[in-house]
Amino acid sequence: MNYTNLLLEKNGAVAVLTINRPKALNALNSDTLKELSALLDELGSDSSVKAVILTGSGDKAFIAGADISQMKDFNAIEGRRFAQLGHATFRKLELMPQPVIAAINGFALGGGCELAMACDIRIAGENAKFGQPEVTLGLTAGFGGTQRLPRLVGTGIASELLFTGDVIDAKEAYRIGLVNKVYPLDTLMEEALKLAKRISGRAPVAVQLSKSAIQRGINMDLDSAQAFEAEVFGLTFSTQDQTEGCGAFLEKRKPVFEGK
Ligand code: HXC
Repeated sequence: MNYTNLLLEKNGAVAVLTINRPKALNALNSDTLKELSALLDELGSDSSVKAVILTGSGDKAFIAGADISQMKDFNAIEGRRFAQLGHATFRKLELMPQPVIAAINGFALGGGCELAMACDIRIAGENAKFGQPEVTLGLTAGFGGTQRLPRLVGTGIASELLFTGDVIDAKEAYRIGLVNKVYPLDTLMEEALKLAKRISGRAPVAVQLSKSAIQRGINMDLDSAQAFEAEVFGLTFSTQDQTEGCGAFLEKRKPVFEGK
């Protein structure tokens, strides 16, 4: 499939997906969300892809939010449909097998911050700025921000950000646990690739099962989540990678994983 607003590059087992609407600071309109949804389906079923990096084009914005020019004249039904399209698309990031790293190279506002929060791991450039400024537009967050932000940083800090619309810098985002690491912008992609390659070198099925245990388990009660974890753990003993990994440790050599 050809994509108008997305770029896809493969770097070995790592897929680099770029939201590419630089003139609108990569704002998400429904066409871009539909393309993203289709591309995530494609990547999710591609076993040669072991990790995904998601970023924005240019050096100013990751994503400056949902497209305000498209939303301006929505009626209530259209608004709800747009939110649901975002929900379904972003959920694919959490439920696709491979880990997804957000490389946040500038503004991550509104829907951009929400997209980053749906990724498994967030790293940021020093220029990155985060916020949920919807209330400054007479809107609420609508692509999962009212749910994922409190889960990530706690209800107190999330409430402050969602009620004020304040924009915070990368240092503050790091302090509150919204991003894992902050790098100079010119090394951000290199660091994202290093991390993605380190993950890709681990046993792929075990990495994917770990993701599944985190993403499914986080929405369960502890007993159900641990029961799921036990099933996942048991399943690893049906993989060749487990035989290879444990065997290599005991033979004092590096494992060679095949994702089987
Ligand atoms: C549409 C946008 C946009 C957006 C920027 N642009 N953000 N277009 N939707 N979210 C466009 C501008 O209109 C402008 O187009 C071009 O990108 C460059 O932006 P400038 O404003 O000129 O750049 P700058 O002065 O550097 O300011 C950068 C900025 C500002 C601080 C990021 O653009 C900004 O505040 N953007 C809006 C951020 C925001 O409120 N996001 C939340 C949206 S609501 P032209 O044609 O003039 O060059 C949301 C809801 C999600 O995300 C849930 C939905 C269900």
